[in-house]
Order: sequence, then structure tokens, then C-alpha cells
Amino acid sequence: MSATTIKPWVVGNWKMNPIHADAQQLISEFKTLLQDSPVEAEKCHLGIAPVTLALTQIQAALSEAVRPVYTVAQDLSRIAGLGAYTGEVSAELLKDSQIDYVLVGHSERRELFADTPSILNEKVKNALQAGLTVIYCVGESLQQRESGQAEQVVLQQICDIAAVVDAEQWQQIVIAYEPIWAIGTGKTASPEDAQTMHAKIREGLSQITAYAVTLPILYGGSVKPENAVELAACPDINGALVGGASLNAASFHQIAQAFANTQ
Ligand code: 13P
Repeated sequence: MSATTIKPWVVGNWKMNPIHADAQQLISEFKTLLQDSPVEAEKCHLGIAPVTLALTQIQAALSEAVRPVYTVAQDLSRIAGLGAYTGEVSAELLKDSQIDYVLVGHSERRELFADTPSILNEKVKNALQAGLTVIYCVGESLQQRESGQAEQVVLQQICDIAAVVDAEQWQQIVIAYEPIWAIGTGKTASPEDAQTMHAKIREGLSQITAYAVTLPILYGGSVKPENAVELAACPDINGALVGGASLNAASFHQIAQAFANTQ
């Protein structure tokens, strides 16, 4: 099963970067590039995930872009609503600030911040109930890949959330496959390996949801202008979640163009 007609998504995950002045500069450069060399909105979704502190500032700056660029939160609270939860930002608070997209389950959160499957389920559930679209990240470690467990690990991570996603809510899910060994290492999965995993993910999804054929599956892990065209040509790779290269406006713009040009 392949899904070449899915409109691709290119999302920049800025992680804990950059300082305020550099963020403003980056957005300003990106807006100029979009104006001079358009990435048509009909051909590609675009998003940027800044630090929580900057979400509304970046959203305001992006509102003046020539085309929609979504502002994406990097995480949300496991607790819904409002209340005495120091340091937390709930799905409802994101929605109240017109933030409609959120990353959940990034490997850095799973590994460094103890986001366990049950915590991730609470986050996914809250986000979907508040009407957010969830970019749910999955991916195996190098050790899991080398011991032949990559597919099993990734499919389990997808099955984990099935308990909290209602039949219709699968339309609010985007999957991002990010092999941990490819994140920030300069090593990208080969387009063949990435395509193979994406096809397996889609096959796995088809056991769970009727929306498997239309569900975008993004690739993440050292995506850069040099490898974006080849990745974009794979039928089940419906976009990219870009880390390091999204901190450079020209690189991020080129990656967006690579995916838009497949349409
Ligand atoms: P890099 O593109 O820096 O490898 O990061 C990928 C990533 O983790 C995006 O979420």
C-alpha cells in the first residue's frame, strides 16, 4: 500500500534553540524566501516548532508570511484543563492561544524526560480532545535496529496510542518516524530503509484505522537539502520533521521545496 497523493508536511523542530533575536531573524529570512521563491500552500503543509516561551511570538511573526506556516508546540502537559500544576502547559491553554499542532513522543522526551507510554497516552488523549493535531514521534535505537527489533519497536509505539485515539480522531494524527541513531548524527536512514519502515508503519496502521491510506508519515533524522529530494521521492514518506537544518532558513526552505515539488 502506498500513498503518494498525501499532501506532504515539512515541520522544523527547533528543540531548545535559538535565542530570541536569532529566532526573529530566522523567521524574517524564511518569510523573505517564501515570498521570493514560493512553496505553494496547496503542495505542502509547513510548520515550525519553537520553544514554548516563544510560541505566540513566532505565531505573530508567521501570521505575516505569504502562506500559512503552522506554529507547533514541542510538547504539552499530561494534565488537561487548568489548575495547580506548576510549570505545565495544557492542551486547552495551547488551543486558547490558537496553537493547533503539537509534537508528542519525541525520542528526546522519551529518553531524557521519562515520557513513558502511559504518560504519552495521556498527552495524546488530551491533545485530541482539545482539537489539536498530534505529530506523534516513533523510532528505534541503534541497538534495537542492530538486533533486528526496529519494526517491532516502532509498531508497538504506534499500537500504544491506539487505546486512546477514537476512530475519527486518527484524522488528527500525523506520524513522524525518527530513528534515534539518525537524530543529530548526520547519519540518515537510506531512502530505501526509510521507505521500507514507512510502508510497514502504514501496513500496521491499516490494522488499526481506516484512515491509514491518508495518514501522513513524516521522516526525521538528519534531513538536509542534500538528501531531501531522494527522501521526498519515496511513496510512503509524506514529509519531514527537521531538526538542525530548520535552524537555517535557506536549508529549511530548500527542504520544503523538495517535498512540495513531489506534488
Ligand atoms: P536532526 O534533523 O537534527 O537530526 O533532528 C531530527 C529531529 O529530532 C526532529 O524532531
